[in-house]
Amino acid sequence: MDKRIEGFSKFTKAEKIEWISHTHFNDPAKAKSKLSSYWNTNSDIQNIHDEFIENTLTNFYLPLGVAPNFLINGETFTLPMVIEESSVVAAAGNAAKFWQQRGGFHAEVLNTFKVGQVHFMYKGNPDLLHSFFKKNKAQLLYATDDLSKKMKARGGGIQSIELVDKSLLIPNYYQLHLRFKTADAMGANFINSCLESIALKLEQLAKQELESVKNGNGIEVVMSILSNYVPECLVRASVQCPVSDFVPQKGWTGEAFAKKMVQAVEIAKQEPYRAVTHNKGIMNGVDAVVVATGNDFRAVEAGVHAYASKEGHYTSLSNAYVKNNLFCMEVTLPLALGTVGGLTRLHPMVQWSLELLGNPNAETLMKIIAVAGLAQNFAALRSLVTSGIQKGHMKMHLFNILNQMGATDLQKAEAIVYFKEHNVSVKAVGQFLQKTSL
Ligand code: MEV
Repeated sequence: MDKRIEGFSKFTKAEKIEWISHTHFNDPAKAKSKLSSYWNTNSDIQNIHDEFIENTLTNFYLPLGVAPNFLINGETFTLPMVIEESSVVAAAGNAAKFWQQRGGFHAEVLNTFKVGQVHFMYKGNPDLLHSFFKKNKAQLLYATDDLSKKMKARGGGIQSIELVDKSLLIPNYYQLHLRFKTADAMGANFINSCLESIALKLEQLAKQELESVKNGNGIEVVMSILSNYVPECLVRASVQCPVSDFVPQKGWTGEAFAKKMVQAVEIAKQEPYRAVTHNKGIMNGVDAVVVATGNDFRAVEAGVHAYASKEGHYTSLSNAYVKNNLFCMEVTLPLALGTVGGLTRLHPMVQWSLELLGNPNAETLMKIIAVAGLAQNFAALRSLVTSGIQKGHMKMHLFNILNQMGATDLQKAEAIVYFKEHNVSVKAVGQFLQKTSL
């Protein structure tokens, strides 16, 4: 069958489903009903989701769970978490409870600058370009005046603009490097609009005052775009407790446990293979709350991993040490987040999640999400250096295995009791189901 199609995006939703089901599936009726079974019964809600992207056919569910008891700077939060990995929410809840009894999490925003750049080519005399920039800096900024009015009123706007000579990296390559504050918005649209206005003005002024591009000495803009690398939009979360508070398992001392936790972090600092997985554990907590609150998890992921490599090698995002018999653990993350704009007003569950968190401003959300990352990192390392990760992970995975094997409700109830005392594995669950009543 020919799978090419012209003008697909112009089809109605029903036409798209018809074409997809008949072209790509052996049983078109079954494929169609699978899609429609995931539609929201409220057509207004479904419309909202249909219009988020092009060619929407249905919804794709991920569970939204909650992790209560997060004491952050003296205030208790229940975190909304959207994630498919079975053990993440349980681990967050356990870590939250542990630290709740030990003073909770402390979190502080270190700064909130975001970055955008106009990348351009210029073949002429660099001194001429520098004096052109100096003379026209105010005009370039003025080009964003209309766009910036509201943002300025909210305490944001452009904070600095710099001409940067990058011609040693790429011949004739320069950039305007801008720093922004965007108040409670993530700010991508605001930043990109400002950059595009500035780029337009830059070319206009260059045409008047520098020689033309045709003559080889004008300015040729390549692109204008925000950067998701935000090493100046940082938040730090930390915990501490007396080493003697840890008695993780029989036969362990608090000192031995704390020492192993510190060793585990040291390994992640030095060893990139471990650092990636260590940081992935942090991002389990971060992404789950980022998604629940309608923020852009790809932007956050890209920025965080770039930050983990800022010293020229990939390293741990968290730190742990023992000082004066106190175990201290902290994470510092670059997080460009918004609590207004974007999906926040549109997605009903994002609104719900933000309300659950008390409608935080962007800085409070930065703190909450950094804490989610630290809690997850603490919980993962605690398992790794004691029982190993599989015990808890497989316990949480039990329902998935039971569902995959078609267990009945009765079997599931019996399995929960049985596997409290036994190790979970696919084989063990299979054997258990053969023995139990349907
Ligand atoms: C699994 O999703 C995350 C962990 O691998 C993190 C870690 O190893 O630190 C458990």
